[in-house]
Amino acid sequence: MTASPPKGPLVLYVDDERANRIVLEQSMKTEFNILVAESGEKALELLAVNEVAVVVTDMRMPGMQGDELLRIVKERHPQSVRMVMTAHQDVGPILRAINEGLVARYIIKPWERPELVQVLRWACEAWSFGRDSAALHRRLMETERLATLGSIAGLLVHDLRQPLMSQLANIEVLQDFALDAPILSQAIEGAEMEAETRERLLHFVKDLKPTLEDLKEATMHLSKLITGLRDLSRPKVDTGTELPAIDPLPIVRHAMAVCQELTMKSRSSIGYDGPQNLPHVRISSTELMQVLINVVSNGAQAVAARGTPNGKVEIHAREDGGMLELQIQDNGVGMPPDVLSRAGTPFFTTRAEGTGLGIAQCQRLIGTAGGRFLIESEQGKGTTVTIVLPTAA
Ligand SMILES: Nc1ncnc2c1ncn2[C@@H]1O[C@H](COP(=O)(O)OP(=O)(O)OP(=O)(O)O)[C@@H](O)[C@H]1O
Ligand SMILES: [Mg+2]
Repeated sequence: MTASPPKGPLVLYVDDERANRIVLEQSMKTEFNILVAESGEKALELLAVNEVAVVVTDMRMPGMQGDELLRIVKERHPQSVRMVMTAHQDVGPILRAINEGLVARYIIKPWERPELVQVLRWACEAWSFGRDSAALHRRLMETERLATLGSIAGLLVHDLRQPLMSQLANIEVLQDFALDAPILSQAIEGAEMEAETRERLLHFVKDLKPTLEDLKEATMHLSKLITGLRDLSRPKVDTGTELPAIDPLPIVRHAMAVCQELTMKSRSSIGYDGPQNLPHVRISSTELMQVLINVVSNGAQAVAARGTPNGKVEIHAREDGGMLELQIQDNGVGMPPDVLSRAGTPFFTTRAEGTGLGIAQCQRLIGTAGGRFLIESEQGKGTTVTIVLPTAA
């Protein structure tokens, strides 16, 4: 703690480990005006009597935890810029803190001096902006929070790919074994055992192949989602080669078939209304498929949430002036204006099991293909998504 009056914005660092406090204070004190506290409680006392610009806190501490401290600081001292400093393996708590809007940035321990100096400079600047305009401060924090989420997503994607690939390889090994299912069934038929046990084993052997197929399909789907998440957080590289033109109709039909189960679950119907010949478009078929599945599932979910008996998701198609227009219309719950304006912001979701990446992904994929993606929605009436793609010359 400094006895002399502070010069420049005050940075408060909260950590229960003395060694960490000393290292940070020593290496930052030439650049910043540092205050340290060994606990959340102590930090709050300091905040009550000092104008603190930046609060950097450890997450795991005895007594008051980092997130609890941040929640109180957010309420009592909304103008201070909040950050967490924690170890790499603690991604979960950081993500929660960011999602709750408690912090805009995080610092991974052990930190490098130049990196920390840069982050603290940014925070001090953001704080002084905020003194001039609270609205600007909020905008800046929000942008930063989203950028941070993006980089966390990148981290997670990297860590998720490995186990998923090994899972896929293991499924393939099991699928090889499952080729011997008929022999196994014969052996069970001929072996001495109770009738009930035989029944159970035969059932197991019979189910092995389809179960593994489902498992493989679900794993591949996960792997694609993860790739999509990775793509979201990094710009697409232009390879310079033009994509081949594809017929969109088989893809529309395929997407409808994939979503059939979803619409059945929500007791809604899914239909296609358009010509049997559509102009070709230049987009990868997997990407168009991904877009359609996302939009149709959103529609099916909205219809299910409304719970009315004649739920419908309809796909309309038409060609107009060198453009293919696909319209996906549902008569589900629709969106209130505030949801509509936020739909498409990465991680924005109103569904407990949603990831909030569906629309963001669609907008990105259609945008890269040179098209447009529009959503119109009315609460209580339904939603119409319009996808416009240039047709291949
Ligand atoms: N057809 C629709 N009708 C009503 N609300 C919708 C519709 N489509 C999207 N929304 C709203 O927009 C939000 C964001 O949609 P988005 O597809 O991006 O994410 P999600 O469906 O919540 O999660 P997921 O990443 O699993 O798709 C949804 O949570 C929902 O509130
Ligand atoms: Mg969705």
